Amino acid sequence: MQLTERINRIQISPTAAVIAEAEKLKAKGVDIADFGPGEPDFPTPEHIKKAAIRAIEQNFTKYTATGGIMPLREAICAWHKRELKSNYEPKECVVNVGGKHSIFNAVSVLVQQGDQVIIPAPYWVSYPDIVKYAGGTPIHVETRPEDGFSVKANVIEKAIGPKTRMVILSSPNNPTGGVVPPDEYERILAVCKKHKVWLMSDECYSHFTYHPHKPYSIASVADSKEHVVIIGSMSKTFAMTGWRIGYTLAPEALVQATVKLQSQSTSNPTSIAQYAALEAMRGSMDSVPVMLAEYARRRRRIVDGLRAIPGVTCEDPGGAFYAFPNVAAHLANGTAGSALAKNTTELAKLLLDKARVALVPGDAFGAPGYLRLSYATSIERIEEGLRRLERFFSRAEAAA
Ligand SMILES: Cc1ncc(COP(=O)(O)O)c(C=O)c1O
Repeated sequence: MQLTERINRIQISPTAAVIAEAEKLKAKGVDIADFGPGEPDFPTPEHIKKAAIRAIEQNFTKYTATGGIMPLREAICAWHKRELKSNYEPKECVVNVGGKHSIFNAVSVLVQQGDQVIIPAPYWVSYPDIVKYAGGTPIHVETRPEDGFSVKANVIEKAIGPKTRMVILSSPNNPTGGVVPPDEYERILAVCKKHKVWLMSDECYSHFTYHPHKPYSIASVADSKEHVVIIGSMSKTFAMTGWRIGYTLAPEALVQATVKLQSQSTSNPTSIAQYAALEAMRGSMDSVPVMLAEYARRRRRIVDGLRAIPGVTCEDPGGAFYAFPNVAAHLANGTAGSALAKNTTELAKLLLDKARVALVPGDAFGAPGYLRLSYATSIERIEEGLRRLERFFSRAEAAA
């Protein structure tokens, strides 16, 4: 079938592909240790679910303002101010259909043919494809495990050229868990200001940071607004992945352009989900530290377990809920001498077929030699998965 050149520039999200493959096996009754999904395994908190039920009962089931109901835009600004020390007004806020949609819209209104967008690698799978779909070219810069995968301002500055339009950062990062410390973030902002480049800051994991890191937003810096696009999401912080509510905080003209785009595409985010998000923003956040404490416990177990496997190294992730071990020693030409697979894509397939462990190959994130394991799963399943990985890497099953 003839499709547009535009749609052929992008591919289906590799994380979605892995999850689909694991789901197929699970449907056949195969017991999979599943480290694939990038979503909380906790249910959405009760008070948020009840707000959605109330919204249905009160017939808030019609179109809303395209950019989201005003109380929600006000509540997002107030929440962001309280939690992350920013200073936005509702006219600088638009509600979108999840954080991915927020990014898609902001890139669509700012990036055009010939523009370059700097994306530190390892990167979240959707950034490069969203940029390509808009006609831009992703330019990847390196982050290093010895820096905790935090990108440096001088590395970004070196990559900036006349065509650079934007830098996209996520901190905490998916897939590495890397956190950009506030002083480095401010240096990156200064570089962006100097070169008149937009800084897009993806804060989807802002509230899942581990000691000594704390939730932080570059929007807390005075005079940052003109250069910064903040992307936020209800998905991770409030275990609301399926509700599809994200937001953009940005200069008014950019918000208006996004509303225009939404008015000709999605229209408003689902009315009921907006009322649930309103409760998330205004109500108790007691569930957040409870989830964080559990993630911290699992993080310790999975990182220690991975480190105990010969030939595997793993940094402590500073935030989010992913472990990102380096398994290059087990690939062809690797130092472990096991040569289990050519690359991590092949290795991930072997792990699913032979060891019944689902995870995402680093190749998908521009990180050959790495694997991403989501620890948003129970400690029992983590233990089981670690047992399977230990057996696999000791070659018993891989060679079978
Ligand atoms: C770094 C990052 N940004 C944004 C998103 C988008 O999340 P959502 O569209 O559910 O808000 C994700 C989801 O996995 C993510 O990992």
